[in-house]
Amino acid sequence: TVVVVGGGIGVAPVYPIARAYHELGNKVISIIGARDKDLVIWQDKMAAISDELILTTDNGSAGRKGFVTDPLREMLEAGEKLDLVLAIGPVIMMKNVAATTKPFGVKTTASLNTIMVDGTGMCGGCRVMVGGENKFACVDGPEFDAHEVDFANLVMRQQMYKDQEALEYSCGGHCKCVEE
Ligand code: FES
Repeated sequence: TVVVVGGGIGVAPVYPIARAYHELGNKVISIIGARDKDLVIWQDKMAAISDELILTTDNGSAGRKGFVTDPLREMLEAGEKLDLVLAIGPVIMMKNVAATTKPFGVKTTASLNTIMVDGTGMCGGCRVMVGGENKFACVDGPEFDAHEVDFANLVMRQQMYKDQEALEYSCGGHCKCVEE
């Protein structure tokens, strides 16, 4: 039994993996989530290759209200035997999925392709600590043992340019604040 968790546009990269597990005869439970119903993608495609599909939205505008970790936690607490959990989505979502499964000892994979930038190993944007070692998601991953990923450090790195990003957004995203 494989649980695939897709958050936001993370549903797109999770889809071919879930489909492959399905085609190989595994039981596939898919949990997909988004902030709002308008941000839900590929619900039908995911349903077609899943034995069970659970949709969550933060605001309850579609599916059940809450986060993808809610049904996952319920399954684990109910004693459902899960062989693998695979998560792709925002870093904070993957962090929470890892924290949810860890006490239950369920093998969990996080696919960190959502943090990649150039995908060539040159920009350094996807650097992440895994098992105490520096890794590049695009070269060494993107799949990693989620329980070994230092998500606290990764979240901190992602916040590093928050102020500059806010300034950029405040200008309409075109960064024309500085005279050339
Ligand atoms: S995405 Fe740039 S180094 Fe990995």
